[in-house]
Amino acid sequence: MPIAPPTETNRALGLRDDFLWGVSTSAYQIEGAAAEDGRGRSIWDTRCRTKGGVVNGDVGDVACDHYHRYAEDVALMKGLGLNTYRFSVSWPRVLPRGRGRINDKGLDFYDRLIDAVLEAGIEPWLCLYHWDLPQSLHDLGGWTNRDCAGWYADYAALCARRFGDRVKHWCTFNEFSVFTLFGYAIDWAAPGVTDRQAHLRAIHHVNLAHGAGVEVLRDLVPEARIGAVHNRQQVLPEHNDPANQEAAEFLDEHWNRAFPDPQILGHYPPRLAELIEPYVKGGDMARICRRQDWFGLNHYGPIFARKAPDWIWGFCWGDAPADADKSQLGWPVFPDAFRDELLLVSRRYKLPVYVTENGCGGNSDQLGPDGAILDQHRIAYLKLYIAKLREAVAQGADVRGYMVWSLLDNFEWGSGYGQRFGLVHVDFDSLKRTPKQSYDWYRGLIAGEHRGD
Ligand code: FCB
Repeated sequence: MPIAPPTETNRALGLRDDFLWGVSTSAYQIEGAAAEDGRGRSIWDTRCRTKGGVVNGDVGDVACDHYHRYAEDVALMKGLGLNTYRFSVSWPRVLPRGRGRINDKGLDFYDRLIDAVLEAGIEPWLCLYHWDLPQSLHDLGGWTNRDCAGWYADYAALCARRFGDRVKHWCTFNEFSVFTLFGYAIDWAAPGVTDRQAHLRAIHHVNLAHGAGVEVLRDLVPEARIGAVHNRQQVLPEHNDPANQEAAEFLDEHWNRAFPDPQILGHYPPRLAELIEPYVKGGDMARICRRQDWFGLNHYGPIFARKAPDWIWGFCWGDAPADADKSQLGWPVFPDAFRDELLLVSRRYKLPVYVTENGCGGNSDQLGPDGAILDQHRIAYLKLYIAKLREAVAQGADVRGYMVWSLLDNFEWGSGYGQRFGLVHVDFDSLKRTPKQSYDWYRGLIAGEHRGD
């Protein structure tokens, strides 16, 4: 039985009685066991082996070794008093070549994980795609190939049939615009393609895959609550300079609107609509726009756009104002923008909103004298952002849950192991887990021991 939401805590914070508290992780970032029990290769295994693909040449082969240590990790979640956990399934672990032969040992791992999560009283939220496309499918064109939507739907059906008896919250994709823009236009993520037409095709085919996934899940798991996770953050012109305004508007279309708009409102934003038109076939927009039950928002801070004629789409990432608050990683800390984004998505898409990622990265969590891991900077960030979530709710945003990124320090994509987001410290040599101060702070918030301020 899922742990009942902490009603008293929620009331004291001005949130719905059934407001959910959780954490998020993703398969490639924590599982490790990359060559074990029949797992196939993903495009991230390849990128890790590509020169310059990841800082320090770090690889996800072992990561947090969650594949073997999941029971310990679930116990850590239980210790937090969470009632929800978002994780992702690794497509190449269950279908080593992306389609065709099924890997039973891979499915067995997720059975064990889901059972342990439920046993701990935590509701599993299963995300089908957190960026680790099977390499064999990429070799056939990956997301640039329209058939990829069908391969994805078959994979979704496999998971729905196997886990749908226990998993009721399903998420089709994580952060569509990040993996398509960085993976097919700007070489910041796997598979590292840099081609405008490939990028446009990938956008449309991923949208088709989302729609096909929703259809399959509705069919196979009738009581499923289905949604998708979108990264959305305000895009501002660098230096507030009018010369950067057009770049900001176009980046906004790419970053914030290329996926939720067609999926929920039924149309692409105007400039992208013209560019994508050659790849749209009759009936596609209806295939993409399917009823969903919730909207997942990942948010860290706003982004700044600069006009950049040499860049593939004419924009690049600009700098935040010099006097802006920033995290240790240099990411801008703008809690007001979080409140505004929650209000905006709630009004624009008219779906219950769950914050599926928010958290603070650092590179200098300190070991205290008594062995504690000191991360006051993370607590300060969480305080500010949770206060703004409460403000958004008070102003009418329909927000129903909050999940911290992340439970564990993990493999942070192109930044490798140097950027740490965990509530729990991981020593990447010994793989020992040590809860940080922020772990205790979050536990105390959920338990109603303090009000987060
Ligand atoms: C998000 C990703 C997640 C993690 C955090 C820091 O963009 O979804 O996997 O890398 O950023």
